[in-house]
Amino acid sequence: MRTTTLGSHGPEVGVVGLGAMGMSFAYDMAAPRDVATSVSVIHQALDLGMTLIDTADVYGPYTNEELVGRALADRRDRAVIATKVGMECLDPTGGPGGAPLVRPNGRPEHVSAAIDASLRRLGTDHIDLYQLHRVDPEVPVEETWGALAEAVTAGKARYIGLSEVSVQQIQRAQSIHPVATVQSEFSLWTRDVKTEVLPYCHENGIGLLPYSPLGRGFLLGRFASFDDLPADDQRRRLPRFQQDNLRANLDIVSKVREVADRVGATPAQVALAWLVAQGEYVVPIPGTKTPKYLADNAGGADLKLSAADLADLDAIPAPVGARY
Ligand SMILES: NC(=O)c1ccc[n+]([C@@H]2O[C@H](COP(=O)([O-])OP(=O)(O)OC[C@H]3O[C@@H](n4cnc5c(N)ncnc54)[C@H](OP(=O)(O)O)[C@@H]3O)[C@@H](O)[C@H]2O)c1
Repeated sequence: MRTTTLGSHGPEVGVVGLGAMGMSFAYDMAAPRDVATSVSVIHQALDLGMTLIDTADVYGPYTNEELVGRALADRRDRAVIATKVGMECLDPTGGPGGAPLVRPNGRPEHVSAAIDASLRRLGTDHIDLYQLHRVDPEVPVEETWGALAEAVTAGKARYIGLSEVSVQQIQRAQSIHPVATVQSEFSLWTRDVKTEVLPYCHENGIGLLPYSPLGRGFLLGRFASFDDLPADDQRRRLPRFQQDNLRANLDIVSKVREVADRVGATPAQVALAWLVAQGEYVVPIPGTKTPKYLADNAGGADLKLSAADLADLDAIPAPVGARY
């Protein structure tokens, strides 16, 4: 797979990575988890060159880092591990619909305790990319970022990144320590970052990691109706997936499919190729626990879309319903 770097100074990675969240968290929670298949998907990702593996301490909570650690136990040096800190789980089943109840915690003492726990679960002595999951509105970002920077000084993290931030928050963090990457929701139906965050990252050599790059599966035609969503699934609570909105948004799915048919690729490959074309340091992290989907997604890395195809995709109308 073609490679790039995580921003102008970061490690080399395949231009498409792998998000591990859905292997243990958020989607289809009523179904039994198939750990062996998930481990094999992570191995397959490395073999395909998708070397950036994204997780977070709060996914599971905690079990997703354990899963990634287990998968990488005998091949640690082949992966670039990205995990996150800064969301605290207060109650594993106390949130909406029995989901984990989480809240931001950006206190420096939380960060310094959390990284040791993440290292333990991941079975490694360093994290390649340690990311602040959310800025805590009650803690100045400089303070939290200072604690992430200390993890770099201590050799526990190589690079540090942010998630879901404004340009102003990036600049405040930069005043303390370089920002290697910013992770944001970014896909054919979520393009907010194109206005300010993406141009700023581009000018400053910061990597951008689009999360939910496949629109949580929606852009690929996985769901024609609200009832197609699994029973215990975070998407059931998102505005865009509510029945009337979802139906209206199927028009977007048809437009992605149209371009895919024209270029002889799959909708997933088109959605990822459009993202990869957004900049040198843009590395989408599609999530899957399914071997055939992983192979499909890897094909997005080397698909070249013409200017006309990109223009058609740019012209896709905004979706109905907020993303959260
Ligand atoms: N920073 C943040 O706040 C944040 C928030 C959300 C996510 N993330 C990260 O971003 C990663 C990806 O996001 P995501 O998982 O929310 O959404 P996504 O990658 O847009 O979509 C994942 C969904 O699409 C399905 N899928 C994947 N490839 C497919 C293919 N080729 N054909 C058909 N279906 C396919 C998956 O199915 P199966 O799972 O059934 O295989 C899953 O249901 C996460 O794993 C996580 O690491 C970060």
